[in-house]
Amino acid sequence: MTTTEDVLKGKYPAKAHAKKVAGYIKSKGGDITGTLYLEGQKTRMIEDNDEPMPFRQRRYFYYLTGCALPDCYFTYDMKTEKSTLFIPPIDPDEVMWSGLPMTPEEALKAYDIDAVLPTTEVNAELTSSSTPKTTIYAIPNQVSDHITFLSYSAKDFELLKSAIEICRVVKTPYEIALIRHANAISTAAHTAVMRAVSTAANERDLEALFLKSCIERGARDQAYHSVVAAGTAAATLHYVRNDQPLAGKLNLLLDAGAEVACYASDITRTFPLSGAFSVESAAVYDVVLRMQKECIAMLRAGVRWDDVHAHAHRVAIAGLLRLGILKGVAEDIFAAGTSVAFFPHGLGHYLGMDTHDSGGNPDYADPDPMFRYLRVRGTLPAGSVITVEPGIYFCRFIIEPYLRDPKHKGFIDEGVLEKYWDVGGVRIEDNILITDSGYDNLTPTPKEVHEMEKIIRGEA
Ligand code: GLY
Ligand code: MN
Ligand code: MN
Repeated sequence: MTTTEDVLKGKYPAKAHAKKVAGYIKSKGGDITGTLYLEGQKTRMIEDNDEPMPFRQRRYFYYLTGCALPDCYFTYDMKTEKSTLFIPPIDPDEVMWSGLPMTPEEALKAYDIDAVLPTTEVNAELTSSSTPKTTIYAIPNQVSDHITFLSYSAKDFELLKSAIEICRVVKTPYEIALIRHANAISTAAHTAVMRAVSTAANERDLEALFLKSCIERGARDQAYHSVVAAGTAAATLHYVRNDQPLAGKLNLLLDAGAEVACYASDITRTFPLSGAFSVESAAVYDVVLRMQKECIAMLRAGVRWDDVHAHAHRVAIAGLLRLGILKGVAEDIFAAGTSVAFFPHGLGHYLGMDTHDSGGNPDYADPDPMFRYLRVRGTLPAGSVITVEPGIYFCRFIIEPYLRDPKHKGFIDEGVLEKYWDVGGVRIEDNILITDSGYDNLTPTPKEVHEMEKIIRGEA
């Protein structure tokens, strides 16, 4: 069996990605003799300072090069299938501060590229190719002022961006291996936080531990800002303060994921600070875990994500009816959209180089609040990676308007609800690879109550 390690011993499949993007452009009636042109992210300085900003490679560029160096350029001749990477030449003044840069020979070895030239050669290459100049494909606002496309008879600033965004949806085995590896590191870090949670004093202790656990395993970057939310802070979906004391609170919601070689993991776990869920917390956790498990069980190539999201709402409604927080007929509650008060976000999103990855076709203007924040609409192809992250939250700001709204208030039992505010919020989030026959869960982080409670109590 090929392991993740075996796959990652090879090179990032930049050439296969370039061919796929070119194939997409051809399938849309593009110029089969065209040239793809991309620029990497530039070194940008912090305002009024001599330090550079933290560097993050442009994803469009990385997808076709696998190169995370700043200040680079790339061309791909669709006719000859030749790819060329342009890297910064030696700047003697810089060597003193930063050491020697990568040489073209080293770059050729490191990346899946046909030729490597210094960036001083970009314009010469663009004007001197042996193929007749036809269409240049580039991304708007990602072409430097000094670049000349004069020798091309046509310029297309539309197709390349959307081609890459769409091609990114279906992952290659190498990309899946990177996401799996990021998940393994994040799982170790989540587990370290579970082990520390009963003795830590503040959310920031746990954020520090998560970051340390990732960095010492080789993942210096995070895919996004961690949410380390204790108690009622868990009801704020993208809580980022991470600086409040833990004393007197019930649960921790930890939404945190390492990034490995530009690929994300995105994992949420919710667990009791004391090592044992309160009765109300356990009841809500049970509902959310059912939502997640039933939705994951529906997954396979061709499933409509809208249907999976709607199913999550149906499971939430059944669960909240059992708890007595909701009252009435399940179908009426679904039709009214009352469950949106407790589960206001989408079930999940594509995951890849970006945490909220491209190609999902969301409709943020959808008049139906149940589907407005769903970041993926339509069917899921085999090879896509999607998060499944249902949640139930007790957020006064969101729920109170529902308590006053005649359309919803008859479905909510305010007396029962009163017992649940301190639960804060529960979210459980895994990263799932869609396959033809079903799915593969890439997230091995413990989520069964007995597993998490044992780790917190130091018994596992
Ligand atoms: N961590 C961001 C999200 O779950 O979408
Ligand atoms: Mn997510
Ligand atoms: Mn998340």
